[in-house]
Amino acid sequence: MKTINASQSRPQRSRGLRRLLSRGAGGALALAALACVSARPALAADAATIQRGAYLAAVGDCAACHTAPHGKPFAGGLPMTTPLGRIYTTNITPDPDTGIGGYTQADFARAMREGVAKDGHNLYPAMPYPSYAKVRDEDVAALYAYFMQGVQPVKQTNRDADIKWPMNMRWPLKIWNAFFLDKAVYRDKPGKDVAWNRGAYLVQGLGHCGSCHTPRGVGFNEKALDESGGAWLTGALLDGWYASNLTGEHNTGLGRWSEADLAQFLKTGANQHASAFGAMTDVINKSTQAMNDTDVNAIALYLKSLPAAGGDGGPAYAYDAQTTRVSLSRPANDAGARVYTAYCMHCHGADGRGFAPMFAPLAGNPNVLEKDASSLINVTLNGTRDLVIQGVPAPYPMPAYADVLSDKQIADVLTFVRAGWNNKAGAVGVAEVAKLRTRTQAAR
Ligand code: HEC
Ligand code: HEC
Ligand code: HEC
Repeated sequence: MKTINASQSRPQRSRGLRRLLSRGAGGALALAALACVSARPALAADAATIQRGAYLAAVGDCAACHTAPHGKPFAGGLPMTTPLGRIYTTNITPDPDTGIGGYTQADFARAMREGVAKDGHNLYPAMPYPSYAKVRDEDVAALYAYFMQGVQPVKQTNRDADIKWPMNMRWPLKIWNAFFLDKAVYRDKPGKDVAWNRGAYLVQGLGHCGSCHTPRGVGFNEKALDESGGAWLTGALLDGWYASNLTGEHNTGLGRWSEADLAQFLKTGANQHASAFGAMTDVINKSTQAMNDTDVNAIALYLKSLPAAGGDGGPAYAYDAQTTRVSLSRPANDAGARVYTAYCMHCHGADGRGFAPMFAPLAGNPNVLEKDASSLINVTLNGTRDLVIQGVPAPYPMPAYADVLSDKQIADVLTFVRAGWNNKAGAVGVAEVAKLRTRTQAAR
C-alpha cells in the first residue's frame, strides 16, 4: 500500500517553508503553516473503503482495458480500435509522473464521469464514461481510495494515439458530449424495489453492459442508456462478435432464461442455454465472477424485467429433432450435415443439445438463432478464448477450425446448424466467412 501525496507534496512543502523562513516570518507562523500542511494527507482512507474500491474496480472491469496482456496491473497500453483509428489505454496507477498520482478526487471523478483528464483534454468515449456518469459519489470515492492507496504505482509512459491530424483534435469531443453525455448520476426509480434498482444501477453504470450490448447510432453513441429507450441492450456487433440481445425476447434474447440461469452464466460463463465466448469471456473472467451473489442476482432480476425488444417477432423456439435426425442419418445428401458429423457431433451431439453446461447446446441457443451470424462464424474459425473460473481454465474449449475447414465448409455447417433442430435461422454465405477470416487473421 502507498501513502499518497506524501512524497509528492514533500518538495513543495519544504520549498514553501523555506520561503516563509526567508521572509523572516516568526517561528510561530512557520509552525502554524507546517501544521496546516501536514494536516493535508488526511486523504488516507480506511482499509474497508479501499477494499470496497477494489471490488468496484472489478465490477467496472477497469482491468479489462487498463491492464495490457502481460502488462503490469492498471499501467495501460492496451490498443483499442475506434472509428477514428487506434488509441491506447492510459496508466491509471498512482505514479505521479506517468499515472494518475497527481489526481485529486475531484479530478478522478471528472475523468470517470465526464471524460475529461486532469490537464483538461477530453477523453475518447472508448473509456466508457457515458456509463460511468451514473456512478454515485460514494462509489467514486471508494474507487479513488483504491487507485491511490491499493494499487502499486508503475512508471510507464502513455502512448499517443495513432490518429493523424485533423482527426486527432480532441475539442470536437466537447460537442459529442453536449449531444450524448447525460451527466446525471443514477437515481433510484420510484415503484421499483431495492434489488431492481441495484441491478439497474450496476448494469447502466459501472457494469457498462450497454457499451457492448446496445447498438450504436450515427455518432458512435449508444442509442439508449437505460430501459426508457427501445434499443437498450437489444444487441450489437463489435469487433467481429455479436453481443447478444439481453432483453426478454424469446429467441435471441433472454426470454427463455430464468434468473438463476442468468446468475449461473455471469458466475461461471455457461449454463443450459449458452456459453461465453469472444469479448464476454473477458467480462466473466475479470468482472462478473468476482461480483457477490447479491449483485449478480440484482443484475439478473433487472435484466429479466426488460420487456422483449429486437428479434424478428417469430414464434418462440420449440425443440424438434425430426428433420435433423434424417439429415444426420444420410449426411451424403447434405454438405453441412457431412461437416457436422465429421467435426462437431462428438461434442455438440446428434440431438444438438451438447452436454451443457460443459459443451454448449446448439439447438435453441440464442446466439445460433441471432440474425447476425458473425459470432458463430468467428467462434468456428477461432474457437473460444479461455474462460478461467476461480483460477481454473475451461477444460474443453471450443477448438479453432480456421486451419481445418474451408470457407465453404464453415458456411455449410453453420447453415446446417442454423436450420437444425427447428432453429429456423438464415443461411450463412461463403463471402461472410471469407470476410471474417481475413479480418480476424489480420488481427492475430
Ligand atoms: C472499455 C475500455 C475501458 C474501461 C472498461 C475503462 N477504461 Fe478508463 N480509459 C480507457 C481509455 C481508452 C482511456 C484513454 C482515453 C483517451 O486517451 O482519450 C481511459 C482513460 C481513463 C482515465 C484518464 C487517465 C489519463 O491519464 O488521462 C481514467 C482516470 C480512467 N480511464 C479510469 C478508469 C476506471 C477507474 C475504470 C474502471 C471503473 C476504467 N477507466 C475503465 C478505456 C477504458
Ligand atoms: C466488452 C463487451 C461486453 C461487455 C462490456 C458485456 N458483454 Fe455480455 N456479451 C458480449 C458478447 C460479445 C456476447 C456474445 C457471446 C456470448 O454469448 O458469450 C455477450 C453475451 C452475454 C450474455 C449471454 C447471452 C446469450 O444469449 O448467450 C449475457 C447474459 C451477457 N453477455 C450479460 C452481460 C452483462 C450483464 C454485462 C454487464 C455487466 C455484459 N454482458 C457486458 C460482450 C460484452
Ligand atoms: C472438442 C469439443 C468441440 C467440438 C469438436 C466442437 N465444439 Fe463447438 N463448442 C465447444 C464448447 C466447449 C463450446 C462452449 C464454449 C466454451 O465453453 O469455451 C462450444 C461452442 C460453440 C458455439 C457457440 C455456442 C454458444 O454458446 O453460443 C458454436 C456456434 C459452436 N461451438 C459450433 C461448433 C461447430 C460448427 C463445430 C464443428 C465444426 C464445433 N462447434 C465443434 C466444444 C466443441
